[in-house]
Amino acid sequence: MSKEEPIISLEKIMLRYGEGAPVLNDVSLSLYKRSFHFLTGASGAGKTTFMRLLYMGIKRSSGNLKIFGRDVAEISSEEKCKLRQRMGVVFQDFNLLDHLTVLENVALPLKVMGEQEKRRERQAKEILDWVGLGNCFDMRPNVLSGGQKQRVAIARAVIARPDILLADEPTGNVDEKIANKLMGLFYGMHKMGTCVVVATHYRQFVDKFHYNELHIDRGRIIDKSQIEKGSERE
Ligand SMILES: Nc1ncnc2c1ncn2[C@@H]1O[C@H](COP(=O)(O)OP(=O)(O)OP(=O)(O)O)[C@@H](O)[C@H]1O
Ligand SMILES: [Mg+2]
Repeated sequence: MSKEEPIISLEKIMLRYGEGAPVLNDVSLSLYKRSFHFLTGASGAGKTTFMRLLYMGIKRSSGNLKIFGRDVAEISSEEKCKLRQRMGVVFQDFNLLDHLTVLENVALPLKVMGEQEKRRERQAKEILDWVGLGNCFDMRPNVLSGGQKQRVAIARAVIARPDILLADEPTGNVDEKIANKLMGLFYGMHKMGTCVVVATHYRQFVDKFHYNELHIDRGRIIDKSQIEKGSERE
């Protein structure tokens, strides 16, 4: 059987802001469909930078990055937009659009994909109900609490059933009960085939759910599953 193609592949990636020291250095790794990774590392280690790189919101300084098999250095901005439609992103600072209602924010990815209004509204209402925001459809994001904004951002990221889900500290503003429910949602997405990357400071999650951990330390990303495989071989 031929080996499955990675959905994301990094080869000797170095990334730095301006002339600063590299935030990511000599990073080579592959992520596959239906995989789940926690992304850990101290504050300032580069988790958000790594997420932005995968979302193509920031360019690597050197090395090769392929997303969905396409070399990011070679694609047009139009194709980049198309590839982004297959990605769901929960930004650390939410990135909600304050001129749109909560419902419109969540339905936006479906609108971009050309889904018909009634259907996108129905789906957005369903997911908002599920995350406990059934009474916030017509509100603007700027009147919501941090935890409510976070759930709107998550609903928007998952509504179009993306192939890749990048969630940057997605449970940082909610209580433990909601955090567990949201983790269940990410787990469900992963089981349905999505490649999920969740950046988190919460050691308890990483220890509780036995998923792969990518740990950033001094610019390097240590893929713990590779370490475990190595020690099994020894
Ligand atoms: N736009 C930027 N310009 C210059 N330096 C930046 C920029 N964004 C991040 N950095 C630097 O890159 C490093 C990594 O930052 P990043 O935000 O990726 O860390 P993080 O692991 O997400 O931290 P946290 O856990 O606090 O969210 C930090 O030293 C930060 O100061
Ligand atoms: Mg961050």
